[in-house]
Amino acid sequence: MNKKEAKKEIKRLGEKINYHNYKYYVKNDPVISDYEFDQLLKKLEKLELEYPNLIAPDSPTQRVGGEPVDGFTSVKHKIPMLSLANTYNYDELKEFDERVKKNVGKVEYVVEPKIDGIGVALLYENGILVRGATRGDGVKGDDVTSNLKTIYSIPLRLMEDKLKNVEVRGEVHMSLKGFKKLNKEQEKKGEPVFANPRNAAAGSVRQLDPRIVESRPLDIFIYFISHSDVHFSTHNESLEALREAGFRVNPLAKKVENIEGVIKYCTGLEEERDALDYEIDGAVIKVNSLSKQKELGETSKNPRWAISYKFAAKQATTQLRDIVIQVGRTGALTPVAVLEPVKVGGVTVSRATLHNFDEVRRKDIRIEDWVLVERSGDVIPQVVKSITEKRTGNEKQKDIPKKCPVCGSESIHTEGEVAIRCSNRMCPARLKWRVKYYASRDAMDIDHLGGSTIDKLIEKNLIDNIADLYFLKKDDILTLEGFKDKSAQNLIDSIKNSKKQDLSRLIYGLGIRHVGKYAAQLLASKYDSIDELAKTSPEELMGIDGLGDKTAEAVGTFFATDENIELIKRLKDVGVKTHEEKKTQLPFQGKKFVFTGGLSSISRPDASDLVKQVGGIVSSSVGKDIDYVVAGGKPGSKYKKAEKLGLNIINEKKFKELVGKK
Ligand code: IVH
Repeated sequence: MNKKEAKKEIKRLGEKINYHNYKYYVKNDPVISDYEFDQLLKKLEKLELEYPNLIAPDSPTQRVGGEPVDGFTSVKHKIPMLSLANTYNYDELKEFDERVKKNVGKVEYVVEPKIDGIGVALLYENGILVRGATRGDGVKGDDVTSNLKTIYSIPLRLMEDKLKNVEVRGEVHMSLKGFKKLNKEQEKKGEPVFANPRNAAAGSVRQLDPRIVESRPLDIFIYFISHSDVHFSTHNESLEALREAGFRVNPLAKKVENIEGVIKYCTGLEEERDALDYEIDGAVIKVNSLSKQKELGETSKNPRWAISYKFAAKQATTQLRDIVIQVGRTGALTPVAVLEPVKVGGVTVSRATLHNFDEVRRKDIRIEDWVLVERSGDVIPQVVKSITEKRTGNEKQKDIPKKCPVCGSESIHTEGEVAIRCSNRMCPARLKWRVKYYASRDAMDIDHLGGSTIDKLIEKNLIDNIADLYFLKKDDILTLEGFKDKSAQNLIDSIKNSKKQDLSRLIYGLGIRHVGKYAAQLLASKYDSIDELAKTSPEELMGIDGLGDKTAEAVGTFFATDENIELIKRLKDVGVKTHEEKKTQLPFQGKKFVFTGGLSSISRPDASDLVKQVGGIVSSSVGKDIDYVVAGGKPGSKYKKAEKLGLNIINEKKFKELVGKK
């Protein structure tokens, strides 16, 4: 290929890839598989490597190219980024409407969710993203272009040709799902957790290393054109143009006829608030006609043509009365704040998580402190910070517990771990979790055995360990509050039925540390019975391909404990299946499969079952030990990794042929 052809091809590939990114990240409607997507990207990367001076600023390869910086450059906004005046009730909204009508007569409004994130301005020249900046003080913000480029829903080049030279405004935010995942990772690493998705988004946008930003699940909604060389007559029209240009615009934005329509919308939105996968703190009401917006103008701080209607705050202050310790399934001792009950976003909160003792120290939270409490979406309420200004001197620090509050055993702190744990595997507080885990859907799948029933069984001293479940009689169950003849029989039946479950479910259900579904399947595929597994030396376990060292060590420790050997013996005696039949004849014995992307003719759980039926194992992550990567429509990052590792990638059709399902 000569240079001229290369130039043409680079352009074609760039446009194509940008389009598929848009279909995936903005429209949520991918039209090619990740495999095909990756082929395109690879082709482009190869060509760009050959002709580096042909790399365009909007090339999809340029999303994560930025180097870490010492600080951000300050930039002046083309047009100041104003904030909105707030209203807190419908009377105030009606007053706003009156003011508007008095000045410009009757108007239509557009109402949108007010996204709780961080406002940014994106500048496009000739259709290409040239700058992205934070709001800052409204006049000047920080240039965070490299960071914003890592957000795939931000187009690097505008689609269609209508908008070319524009500045648009939007809110960078983090989905609740992404936020929860990120906090879990932070906690694992011993790094501070974020109080809410907004802080997580703001912290990420202001990260000095774009490579870290790329790993953060950020997204954006664009809600405003602040400057454009194209004329629009209404806000609604401009939103449509933004959509056409490839921006992610909130689908809940709606045009309404009058203030009654606004109020109806706000009522509905507040009801829907907790069902959304991103945080909103209210609604934004905008006059639809742009000429009327102009006429209304603005004060030094706020436009007169828009206002926000704020929902009940999800934060509140209250006094922290005590810090108690909760014992989790793995024995982790988690500090929990006991609060003077307080309403947070319409819900009374009297307990909040403090995550771990590192956090308690880091935030310097003391008993009797006034604290700021926050409830984000469906996340457990948390203590954001202590209000040190309100201290009287009577506040007390909570010591790290030396003993488990439930069984009195010594607590242990393993090097490199954040959590402090109870050292007693038989701790009664852990029993509840263990039974719950054992009975859970992915383990032995025992119906009718929920948390409150387990509590009652433990309270009445009916169970001391998992095996005791199988010795329960109907009469025992009938002594528990709320059980009648039929419900008691149902529970007994489901416990009995669980005896037949697969070995992998039993191994998983034992709750061995670090042994998730995958490791359990792997172990069940390697050993014919639990006795065989129990006899395996730690060295041999370490040698199992695909089993992490920590997991191998935990398995070794589990089976080196007398109580556990006794437990297994009792399970076996009572008839729980502890071995697997005819395994060695299965065609895909021990072979590891990974699924990525959507399957069209079969559900994921059914596909996983097929794998198990032929003796295979389903893994959730890609590593060099994976035998088959099954790629469906628009597979994710797993696909890219599989490619890099040169794994055997097959499509859905091939997969079904392999496992014998046509
Ligand atoms: S319009 C001049 N629409 O709320 C009007 N703002 O307090 C520009 N925000 O700084 C704002 N969702 O960061 C608008 N749908 C939405 C919004 C929104 C969130 C933020 C934005 C703004 C702040 C106003």
